[in-house]
Amino acid sequence: MNAVVTGASKGIGKAISELFASKGVNLAICARNKADLDQFHQTLSTSYPDIEILSMAVDVSDRSNLDQFVQMINSHWTHLDILVNNAGIYLPGEVHQEAEGTLETLMEVNVYGPYHLTRALMPYFLKQQNGYIFNMCSVASLFAYPNGGSYSITKFALNGFTKALRAELLDKGIKVSAVFPGATWSNSWKGVDLPPERLMEAEDVAKAIWLQLELSPSAVMEDIILRPQLGDL
Ligand SMILES: NC(=O)c1ccc[n+]([C@@H]2O[C@H](COP(=O)([O-])OP(=O)(O)OC[C@H]3O[C@@H](n4cnc5c(N)ncnc54)[C@H](OP(=O)(O)O)[C@@H]3O)[C@@H](O)[C@H]2O)c1
Repeated sequence: MNAVVTGASKGIGKAISELFASKGVNLAICARNKADLDQFHQTLSTSYPDIEILSMAVDVSDRSNLDQFVQMINSHWTHLDILVNNAGIYLPGEVHQEAEGTLETLMEVNVYGPYHLTRALMPYFLKQQNGYIFNMCSVASLFAYPNGGSYSITKFALNGFTKALRAELLDKGIKVSAVFPGATWSNSWKGVDLPPERLMEAEDVAKAIWLQLELSPSAVMEDIILRPQLGDL
């Protein structure tokens, strides 16, 4: 199997990539920081020498970067099984007082990136009439919360995009899922003074995604909602 994972060098994307690699899935991974990505690529290659790993420093909000990433994938692979649109950024703020341009910046990474990458890779899925698409939404896609601001707007939009795709692709053998994690340990939470058990582990999100691949062709998990056992923060 071949999988594309964006934002793969840290946090949830890293956990998903590691789990896929451990299952023998070939990977095409990206993130912006080349040094971090190269280091992760090297670690994966050492641990899983039998899988193929393609990596490229890509900013998903940059159309020409995305085009180059897709060209690299096309030049190596003739089929694609899984796309995980995971890359995303969080900028805290409130709609009425966040900096000018916050919504635009967040939309470009959290919504336009997944939209354009999915469209560019869609020929694989349509030709095969199978495959899996996961969009990393958030519980912030489901309700607004203090300091969520434009982040919440973009995660609602990503869920809207996911629902449109699901409706379009349900009769084409392609499974589309929205993943809604609550608070999950990652860089975003660095320095926050909370007990470890108050947040989920990135590996929990990866495991939930993998469950989808174990279902029969007639079933799909449309919405995958995960929360810390102790509830939202
Ligand atoms: N952690 C949570 O509590 C939580 C909860 C709900 C939803 N989520 C969502 O889960 C996803 C992953 O979050 P995370 O907490 O794992 O974040 P993270 O630890 O900050 O990791 C984000 C990853 O995405 C990459 N990235 C960021 N911006 C990018 C861009 N423009 N283009 C390409 N790659 C980019 C980062 O690498 P570079 O910096 O090198 O680009 C990194 O590899 C996000 O969509 C986030 O909104 C997280």
